[in-house]
Amino acid sequence: GLKLVIIGGGSSYTPEFIEGLIKRHKELPVKELWLVDIADGQEKLNIVGNLSKRMVKEAGVPININITLDRQKALKDADFVATQIRVGLLQARAKDEAMPLSYEFIGQETNGAGGLLKGLRTVPVILNIANEMSELCPNAWLINFTNPTGMLTEALARYSKHRKFIGLCNVPIGMERGLADILQIDSSRIRIDFAGLNHMVYGFNIFVDGIDKTKEVIDQYIKKSDSINMKNITAMEWDADFIKALQLIPCPYHKYYYKTRDMLNDELENYKLGKTRAEKVMETEKELFNLYKDESLKEKPKQLETRGGAYYSDAACNLISSIYNDKGDLQVVNTFNQGTLQDFSWDEIVEITCKITKDGPIPHKFIDKLPVYVSGLVKQIKQFEILGAEAAVEGNYNKALLAMITNPLISDDNKGHKLLDEMLRVNKRFLPKF
Ligand code: G6P
Ligand code: MN
Repeated sequence: GLKLVIIGGGSSYTPEFIEGLIKRHKELPVKELWLVDIADGQEKLNIVGNLSKRMVKEAGVPININITLDRQKALKDADFVATQIRVGLLQARAKDEAMPLSYEFIGQETNGAGGLLKGLRTVPVILNIANEMSELCPNAWLINFTNPTGMLTEALARYSKHRKFIGLCNVPIGMERGLADILQIDSSRIRIDFAGLNHMVYGFNIFVDGIDKTKEVIDQYIKKSDSINMKNITAMEWDADFIKALQLIPCPYHKYYYKTRDMLNDELENYKLGKTRAEKVMETEKELFNLYKDESLKEKPKQLETRGGAYYSDAACNLISSIYNDKGDLQVVNTFNQGTLQDFSWDEIVEITCKITKDGPIPHKFIDKLPVYVSGLVKQIKQFEILGAEAAVEGNYNKALLAMITNPLISDDNKGHKLLDEMLRVNKRFLPKF
């Protein structure tokens, strides 16, 4: 039987994952599931662990669930390891979002200044886990959906001893679902070829029932473009002529780059009301954990769907199952470019549609390079990921400063510098190298 380890098992998202495992138990027979967390998260881990046990029991599925704070013990001989951690918890996220806003920069947990600090805190922890894996479970796949996924996967590519890792995000499947809603068809009938970087990915070719319908579908999408969105991002329509010219589907996170002022004003309004995303999520978490504690709850509660990560378990379980069963189907993941896009070197990480095999993802080559009107921005974000990853590993202040100031959401030397210094100061205890 399979052994799966979830690091950050006490996350409020875990019931989503459990539901995915229950649904697919026949094709993905996980026998041992280990939920791991840190001492600070013990209480949440127990609550989520008990709910998980009730869920599998109710479903009649023979998954043996273990709850532990002993990561090494859990990792021993694992087949798959999923990481969903949040270094510094939601309190650190709240600062990642609020501090940039005090300088009138976008305040977002994976983009701009917030993404940089989240990366600096998290890169060393993920590398540590990966290095433990190379000793304790050298054949296991690391499936990382910890944010910022792009920067973390790039850090793994550059520094990890363990080489079997994949970065994962729910945005591509979320976009397919959103498009299915616009077309009023089931999302299983849609497939989009994606390329770019994490939270910086574009939809290229659109297939309905396997037939290329890109042009027609984009015409329909233009009329309801705010329907492709994530719960954590304010919905806004795209300028129709912009999309017509682009002939691509931007991801919801692109609004930070192509609607910077509108998004900033929206965030500033929420910020003044004390309602940044982190603050909203803290409220939702309280509600969720109250529900989770209730012994009569035996399934994933509906409220979990108000989180931005809704349906991430479909992405995660589909990926694990396709590796395990060597399916060779197409899914969107963060992996080595492998000569696919000329914009990047062989071993830089891209988010791209891949064929998923037992030996991992192989990019599906549907273009040679990114169109000139998006390649500059995408490469600028890759540069940010690389600088952030290197800064985190080396404790290199200059690289952190360059990452901050050259990020397109900052582009301000004096304010960027001050903001970085303040953010490094409040994050000090999570940044031993700085
Ligand atoms: C999206 C992103 C995730 C992110 C989440 C935040 O789903 O793909 O990477 O973690 O939103 O959602 P939250 O509910 O925590 O704001
Ligand atoms: Mn994501």
